[in-house]
Amino acid sequence: MTPSERQPPTASRRSRIPAFEVMRITDEIARRRLAGHDVVSLCAGEPSARPAPGTLKPAGYTGPLGTSPLREAIAGHYRDWYGVDVDPARVAVTTGSSGAFQLVFLAAFDPGDRVALASPGYPAYRNILTALGVRVVEIPTGPETRYQPTPELLDAAITDHGEFAGLVVASPANPTGTMLGRAELTALVEWARTRGVRLISDEIYHGITFPRTDDPDPRGVTAVELGSESIAINSFSKYWGMTGWRLGWTVLPESLVAPLEALASNFALSPPAPAQELALRAFTDESYAERDAVVAGFARARALILDAAPELDWGAAAPSDGAFYYYSELGPQLARFGSATAYARALLEGADVAVVPGVDFDPLAGERAVRLSYAAGEPAVAEALDRILRFQAR
Ligand SMILES: Cc1ncc(COP(=O)(O)O)c(C=O)c1O
Repeated sequence: MTPSERQPPTASRRSRIPAFEVMRITDEIARRRLAGHDVVSLCAGEPSARPAPGTLKPAGYTGPLGTSPLREAIAGHYRDWYGVDVDPARVAVTTGSSGAFQLVFLAAFDPGDRVALASPGYPAYRNILTALGVRVVEIPTGPETRYQPTPELLDAAITDHGEFAGLVVASPANPTGTMLGRAELTALVEWARTRGVRLISDEIYHGITFPRTDDPDPRGVTAVELGSESIAINSFSKYWGMTGWRLGWTVLPESLVAPLEALASNFALSPPAPAQELALRAFTDESYAERDAVVAGFARARALILDAAPELDWGAAAPSDGAFYYYSELGPQLARFGSATAYARALLEGADVAVVPGVDFDPLAGERAVRLSYAAGEPAVAEALDRILRFQAR
């Protein structure tokens, strides 16, 4: 075969993963806005950040696990919020929590390993693991366990699929907003310890919580406190609203620090330096107060949705303990439109309101549900609810 007869090179097998539907809709929103439509988007999980303070100046690489001041400041955050002592040497700063997932999955799992995830869940866990050749075991969850995995569900999944190398949990979770309380997370950490399973806890929505006044863990419970082999992953994207600065972190067991450093120094060289400098300002009293005020706004937007729920007349909804998501079955609207995708499309075309069908988060049952993000805030949510009700009444 001459060179001219050869097939053109194709994409790798490991890159054959689904596109993220949220981003496709985001693109569609931009196009509709350009065409003059007044689109209210409850689509993206992106708080509208205040302008970032500070001046930009040229910056060089930092250490592959981040600057020492920032790693120390993150350790200090664990002391302030959770009363936990963390050695800054166990903190690795990454390009968003997304960068942490890639590095942690690479460091923790080999191709062919099995890793369990709750379904519905954040799609990138599944898709990154799949791209890395790791086998994903979806654990179907529902209202009985607040859409979270339990030791019983995991034992049953092991009987069906075989042993796991890992378990990824999220609290508050995307898309449901549900949380693992101290007892529930402790039970999972303990289950993982006895099974020799690596537990990875996505804590990106910590602080965006709507706790009772007597809640002993108002910001969320960190897995760092509960098990020395657990891995916590977090980010400046959500509570601090710094999505575009691309900065996150992971707190690692000591045994994974060196492997992760080797990976990070090849894959990313270093996390972004200007972002790390700015992030030092995240941990001041003033910054926490400002962000807590933003969370109070999310709470008001959430209340609007919960109040409107009976009138929306959808199906069962997750309780939305935290994050800024409301995940609900569509009930009678499903009978009318046939699928969540069809409902979301009709709503966007007919009322210029964008919501996300559940298929991104749950390939099995997601066509029955939609996710509303109330990160857009109270006025946008009020306007959207009004439009949805008028659309459904047509
Ligand atoms: C549950 C969850 N984890 C992680 C991420 C990734 O965020 P980032 O890479 O900006 O830290 C998101 C973003 O929406 C998310 O919802």
